[in-house]
Amino acid sequence: MDVNVYGRQLTPEEIAAAQHRELVGGLWDEVGLLQFEFLRARGLAPTHRLVDIGCGALRGGVHFVRYLDPGRYHGLDVNASLLEAGRRELAAAGLADRAPQLIADDRFALARFGGTFDFALAVSLFTHLPMNHIVRCLVATRAVLGPGAVLYATFFEAPDHPHLAPLPHAPGGIVTHYDADPYHYAFAQMQWMAHAAGMSVELIGPWDHPRDQRMLAFRGAP
Ligand SMILES: C[S@@+](CC[C@H](N)C(=O)[O-])C[C@H]1O[C@@H](n2cnc3c(N)ncnc32)[C@H](O)[C@@H]1O
Repeated sequence: MDVNVYGRQLTPEEIAAAQHRELVGGLWDEVGLLQFEFLRARGLAPTHRLVDIGCGALRGGVHFVRYLDPGRYHGLDVNASLLEAGRRELAAAGLADRAPQLIADDRFALARFGGTFDFALAVSLFTHLPMNHIVRCLVATRAVLGPGAVLYATFFEAPDHPHLAPLPHAPGGIVTHYDADPYHYAFAQMQWMAHAAGMSVELIGPWDHPRDQRMLAFRGAP
């Protein structure tokens, strides 16, 4: 059973018709720029190494690749066709020569990139994942975070746990679920997942996301 819709590979024709932009949620320019400006405000510098987990078709990646020194952007996604779409987005933006590192993987094998990272990002990833997948992602991320590095990740926040009823969010009108994609979680569940992975988590909360996704900051526990 697929846990979300991202097992579906886009055809070259669908990529040429820019359907990848819709598959990752639309709002291409707005959410791409939003995540870039967020990390910039948190101290991202051109020399930093960034890993973008669930990077999709590089909605944010195009901005990061333009800003970071060559070879400093790393993107991992389960869907190889979205990575191919991302390569085409980079070429169209004149950024193909900036050596982005892109890996298709379904187990969050971030160690395949080699080395550690200054920043990790997961935008609209945990919103599509059940808890055990999130914990796997956190365990893998913790292992590649450098000293003082942070994973910023978004989620749909539930007011309590367990919140079994469908939950509408505003703005954006997305309805999330306890046990189906798109998922919502109480912050207490995020704290449990972080603890299970040997991490701490801070609730940053609203960050101007147009569909009310909230921001979290995960750090390796000392
Ligand atoms: C809503 S899209 C967001 C993509 C990107 N972060 C952005 O902001 O455009 C969710 C992404 O998560 C990826 N994804 C879903 N499950 C995954 C998994 N188990 N491992 C890696 N990536 C996954 C999907 O393929 C998709 O590209």
